[in-house]
Amino acid sequence: MERVEEIKEALKGLNTIEKLRFLADRYADRIIFSTSFGWEDQAITHLIFANNIPIKVFTLETGRLFPETYYVWNRTLEIYNKPIYAYYPQNELLQDMVNSKGPSSFYESVENRKECCYIRKIEPLKRALKGNEIWITGIRADQSANREDMHDVEWDEGNQLVKFHPIFDWTLDDVKAYIKDNNIVYNTLHDKGFPSIGCAPCTRAVQPGEDFRAGRWWWEDQSKKECGLHATEAEVK
Ligand code: ADX
Ligand code: SF4
Repeated sequence: MERVEEIKEALKGLNTIEKLRFLADRYADRIIFSTSFGWEDQAITHLIFANNIPIKVFTLETGRLFPETYYVWNRTLEIYNKPIYAYYPQNELLQDMVNSKGPSSFYESVENRKECCYIRKIEPLKRALKGNEIWITGIRADQSANREDMHDVEWDEGNQLVKFHPIFDWTLDDVKAYIKDNNIVYNTLHDKGFPSIGCAPCTRAVQPGEDFRAGRWWWEDQSKKECGLHATEAEVK
């Protein structure tokens, strides 16, 4: 994809803040960052807000987040005094699903789980991304084997935009050090064995040495464990 190659070239030699500034300048009002309030996302939120970079920040409010996540969200609003836009599922879709299958249908089959992720995350994500050309995320290469094959700038065929992962090459230790050095508020679940935090009913702590994402949809087969938010090109085709 030509645009991806061109952006990669333009970002060469810039530091993380400069990269964000460059893209915010070039794609003014068409660049957006999604936060789940995990520590990678808190690091990026800090980069954006503390440096006054004009990038819209949003979150997908599934309605099933951990109390700790709402706490981080609220503290982040208080600390930076900048908006974080919430996107909610469509009422009717959610009501119909819960009324026909109950509030915990996701445990019953992969199909049900994907339906819930679609209604609570994917459909709202599509609304959030509409009209944007750059989507910023907190994905890092060492979060999973699948993510190792990704790049910091990539074309998202499904959403028809460029994704940029500004801390793609950071290790978990880099993230922790940045959070500590800058005194950034973070989700306390990270200190309790949760490296990756999603919805409360679908995330649990992992044991030392277990895979980074082992606590997400833990009852499912390993190969099915992306929720569709970050579908790989192969999955889209
Ligand atoms: S997921 O695919 O398993 O759900 P993960 O939790 O690893 O994703 O997060 C990767 C990136 O996806 C985050 O850095 C963030 O940009 C985005 N993301 C995940 N969950 C949400 C959410 N609820 N709201 C907004 N962005 C999210
Ligand atoms: Fe639903 Fe679980 Fe997906 Fe959240 S992670 S949207 S609760 S299936």
